[in-house]
Amino acid sequence: MERVISMSGVDYFYGRGELRRQVLREVSLEIEAGEIVILTGPSGSGKTTLLTLAGALRSVEKGSVRVLGRELNGAGLGELVGARGSIGFIFQAHNLLRSLTALQNVQMSLDLEAALGAEEKRRRCAAMLQSVGLGRELERYPE
Ligand SMILES: Nc1ncnc2c1ncn2[C@@H]1O[C@H](COP(=O)(O)OP(=O)(O)OP(=O)(O)O)[C@@H](O)[C@H]1O
Ligand SMILES: [Mg+2]
Repeated sequence: MERVISMSGVDYFYGRGELRRQVLREVSLEIEAGEIVILTGPSGSGKTTLLTLAGALRSVEKGSVRVLGRELNGAGLGELVGARGSIGFIFQAHNLLRSLTALQNVQMSLDLEAALGAEEKRRRCAAMLQSVGLGRELERYPE
């Protein structure tokens, strides 16, 4: 069975010209379904860069990154956006989107789940906010 994430020979550079710096060098890894992997390393060693490549948030320039059977090297923006639809990504320093209401913020992940109708999504998200004491703030913005 194919791995959930499979990388081989991944190099990554930031910057151009004199400022060009290599941050990933020949990275290869295999992650299977259900496996929990903890990636550690000093600050600046490239962990976030690696995750953004696997999460289809950044374009792969050299090497192969396969996620859920899809090769991301050479993928256009449309394909990257398509791949993001099957990936749950929790950012280190991002939280609520200020332009969305509490309900819309919570509902964003369910919006990717085409099988649920609009009413059902709203009901579930409202219940979740209710359960943490925010039932009266559904239509309010974070600020
Ligand atoms: N957008 C960028 N442009 C240029 N260099 C960058 C950019 N983002 C990261 N870097 C550099 O790439 C290297 C790897 O950074 P990265 O954020 O992937 O490290 P990290 O392992 O996630 O660090 P931390 O533990 O602090 O989160 C660092 O030298 C960083 O300064
Ligand atoms: Mg990081």
